[in-house]
Amino acid sequence: MSERAAERRRSLHGEWTSRLGFILALAGSAVGLGNIWRFPYLAGENGGGAFVLLYLLFVFGIGLPIMMSEVLVGRRGRRNPVTTMRLLGEEETGKSAWRFVGGLGVVTGFLILSFYSVIAGWTVAYVFESASGAFRNAGAETVESIFQSISGNELATGAWHTLFMVVTIGVVVLGVEQGLERAVRFMMPLLIALLLVLLGYAMTSGSFIEGVVFLFEPRFDELTAEGALDALGQAFFSLSVGMGAVMMYGAYLSEKESIPRSCAWVVAMDTSVALLAGLVIFPIVFANGLDPAAGPGLVFQSLPLAFGQMAGGVVFAVLFFIVLMFAAWTSAISLMEPAVAYFMETRGWTRPKAALLVGVTIWLLGFLTVMSFGAWSDVTFWNGTWFDNIDYLSNNVFLPLGGLAIVVFAGWVMARNSTAEELDPSAGRGYRIWRWTARYVAPIAVALVLLNAVGIF
Ligand code: TRP
Repeated sequence: MSERAAERRRSLHGEWTSRLGFILALAGSAVGLGNIWRFPYLAGENGGGAFVLLYLLFVFGIGLPIMMSEVLVGRRGRRNPVTTMRLLGEEETGKSAWRFVGGLGVVTGFLILSFYSVIAGWTVAYVFESASGAFRNAGAETVESIFQSISGNELATGAWHTLFMVVTIGVVVLGVEQGLERAVRFMMPLLIALLLVLLGYAMTSGSFIEGVVFLFEPRFDELTAEGALDALGQAFFSLSVGMGAVMMYGAYLSEKESIPRSCAWVVAMDTSVALLAGLVIFPIVFANGLDPAAGPGLVFQSLPLAFGQMAGGVVFAVLFFIVLMFAAWTSAISLMEPAVAYFMETRGWTRPKAALLVGVTIWLLGFLTVMSFGAWSDVTFWNGTWFDNIDYLSNNVFLPLGGLAIVVFAGWVMARNSTAEELDPSAGRGYRIWRWTARYVAPIAVALVLLNAVGIF
């Protein structure tokens, strides 16, 4: 091991308490609104089948190698993504410009969390809405008008967004490790159990087969270049890769742990939850004559119908939206941590100061998203509303570019010895597969999808 790599390890601050701790934290980051809210509505907008198939290809062929690259870079650098990319870039090439990749990631985290927190706020509102019994025996119109009255009410959604940011800032102030492990340990099984309950309902909804066909039958004629880019962006978004969040968590990973194995687990878990959500939502959508292309409201307008009709629906609904809120929370923390660590490590700010300043900036930015679902829903430019644009820019542009840069760095710029040191080739085929996908498959595929979307290819 190089002198400098060894030196960085000695100055390491904290580590996850166990291998499971890292997997749990990473799964907590990955599993969130992306799986339950974003995946189904994008699949619906893009016609299902072909989009889903492409998404799965991207997750395993691009997302997984990028996730492994982020973890190995993060563990080797042991700092916030900006400093890590600078240190490793200098070590491998003598140049410090790689720090801009970390910088782009920090900015992307601000952008994503600014809208993520607003959607998370909706889930909080839905906890109370469910508890009030408003969904009992509700029809499609009632559920839709409830969604409109929540998402269109700037004061209420602004307040829930504020509450969500306060608790997120709170955890980040306290430091991420312990509470996060514990929260995920109880939340993830509960989320899966509740989804299975809903799946049971979906199977008896009368449109289960229709839902399955929509989700899995590859009708490639319905897929556009923009749809392919959506699938790519969603693969990045759902796995939390492309902006340094995973890199940040890798910085706390003990050198004894196997990176390929941990990442494979997280990717499998994340993908299962997304597919499960799809299998639950589309049968409900078809059974109730809803529009699969309804957009960001899809989950909030379909699941309440199921809860309203099933036995014990109020309890299940309340539990479900609480768990979803927790899932969003463990993801939000990972969106903030890189920026917070950056200001702590480079400016010498205390953790509370950094968390507060980063958090307040994101909170303020979030009000533009609040307004774009309310009074400014007609104000459109480029790709649509403010929300549409910030979502497109961060997920379909910045994450793929960031991910591309990271995987090129790990696959081409870093010496073989450096990456082999982190990934331990003696562990089996894992290293060779990673290196091949990181050097060829992932960069070429990302480049093709991006070029295709701008119409060059
Ligand atoms: N993956 C999370 C979800 O699916 C969201 C998220 C957390 C994220 N950290 C991220 C997305 C970093 C992109 C980058 O809900």
